[in-house]
Amino acid sequence: MKIVIVGSGYVGLVTGACFSEVGINVTCVDIDKKKIDNLNNGIIPIYEPGLENMITRNMDKGRLSFTTNIKEALKDAEVLFISVGTPPDEDGSADLKYVVAVARDCGKHMNDYMLIVTKSTVPVGTSKKVKQAVQEELDKRNANIEFDVASNPEFLKEGAAINDFLKPDRIVVGLDSQRAEDLMKSLYKPFTLNGHPVIFMDIVSAEMTKYAANAMLATKISFINDIANLCEIVGADINKVRKGIGSDSRIGTKFIYPGIGYGGSCFPKDVQALIRTASENNYDLKVLQAVEAVNKLQKLVLFNKINNYFDGDLKGKTIGVWGLSFKPQTDDMREAPSLSIINNLLEAGAVVKAYDPVAIPEAKHHFGDTISYFEDQYEALIDADCLAILTEWPEFKIPSFKIMTKLLNKPTIFDGRNIYDREEMKKEGFEYYCIGVNT
Ligand code: NAD
Ligand code: UGA
Repeated sequence: MKIVIVGSGYVGLVTGACFSEVGINVTCVDIDKKKIDNLNNGIIPIYEPGLENMITRNMDKGRLSFTTNIKEALKDAEVLFISVGTPPDEDGSADLKYVVAVARDCGKHMNDYMLIVTKSTVPVGTSKKVKQAVQEELDKRNANIEFDVASNPEFLKEGAAINDFLKPDRIVVGLDSQRAEDLMKSLYKPFTLNGHPVIFMDIVSAEMTKYAANAMLATKISFINDIANLCEIVGADINKVRKGIGSDSRIGTKFIYPGIGYGGSCFPKDVQALIRTASENNYDLKVLQAVEAVNKLQKLVLFNKINNYFDGDLKGKTIGVWGLSFKPQTDDMREAPSLSIINNLLEAGAVVKAYDPVAIPEAKHHFGDTISYFEDQYEALIDADCLAILTEWPEFKIPSFKIMTKLLNKPTIFDGRNIYDREEMKKEGFEYYCIGVNT
């Protein structure tokens, strides 16, 4: 089978690599010529563990190729996946212009039956718009070609994307034709052999499932952050409370880690878009509005702790920062909490010395030379008045506390990810401030 994937970003590249890995012939398309040239030269535009090896291996086998030419790519293909971005519009709704542009391109160039699958995260009703755009283009050409549309939202997490795609908790497919169902069943067969289920449903329910999943996960995070803030006030320890509630299997241990607010390219925009969909339908999603409001405040919590520590005068203070990406194992900085925290520090007159294992090139796009960057985590601490931990990279978990004490002007840590034990930090001689524990 030959398939085409349009949009070669985080989702498109992982989807393309994983389908080619199981022997499917995949062409990935993008309008970004530089990105495609780089990919054809083995240069992968994102940091995602395991992706580079998988892409080069399948390119060498001749099963995976990259092009800007959608017309060529569509020849002999039966399935087209749309995996372009759906960024937030000014009013918070998902901007569908890239999705619709791909649908139009498809209608312009397809010559035979095609199943057009939306993998991008799109609001309820988008598949109808895709269908309409394809049909309009076919009509312009007087072409009488059959096609189906389907919704196949993606649930991968950055940093664990390959594993999530190869061993999914579930695959959700919304469709309305038997031909589409047969095609999707055979495409996903290699991934379902070990018991990973495909859940078939109608298109609207599949579109809603994606937003409901992200909204539920974001809700867990804002809930635990809200409780963490209360723990600080009443003298409870969120780390203990988290374990205490997580061992109830109805609640579960995952996604209840307190921190500095959820970031990334998905939760913030998808929560906003779902609130927007609701209001367009005259419904008030009150819980999600609160989730969003809590998250906005949570992004300020660590800055406020640092600011209070220095009695509201950060002018000339030097802050060492470990971690810039929105989570570990990725260089993605979209909506990263580090953006708001560092911008607040800079506005207050502080000097920022930053280290991240992979996100420094990305961070330079955001901060330019307003902060300094270091190749070594300890160098970022030289002459710093404190350390702020903004991403829980594994290499920060067992550092040399001795070196840190020597380098910092005063051994003080503001940990936005609760990666250390408070008692141990006391023994090591640190003043240690984290989230949800009164110090
Ligand atoms: P991305 O920004 O990394 O990539 C999108 C790509 O689409 C870009 O390379 C862009 O050049 C290309 N593009 C735009 N218009 C095009 C066109 N007309 N023709 C061809 N290419 C075009 O985006 P992403 O992070 O991969 O996200 C894509 C979608 O998947 C979004 O809707 C997102 O919400 C959803 N999603 C993302 C993740 C994630 O972890 N990043 C996970 C699940 C779902
Ligand atoms: C998230 C979902 O987990 C994926 O299932 C989904 O496919 C994806 O969005 C999407 O739709 O694009 P991702 O944004 O890559 O994936 O990363 P997560 O691991 O979910 O983390 C998101 C944010 O929540 C991060 O800032 C992380 O630090 C924060 N988080 C996560 C917490 O603060 N606490 C937790 O317990 C878990």
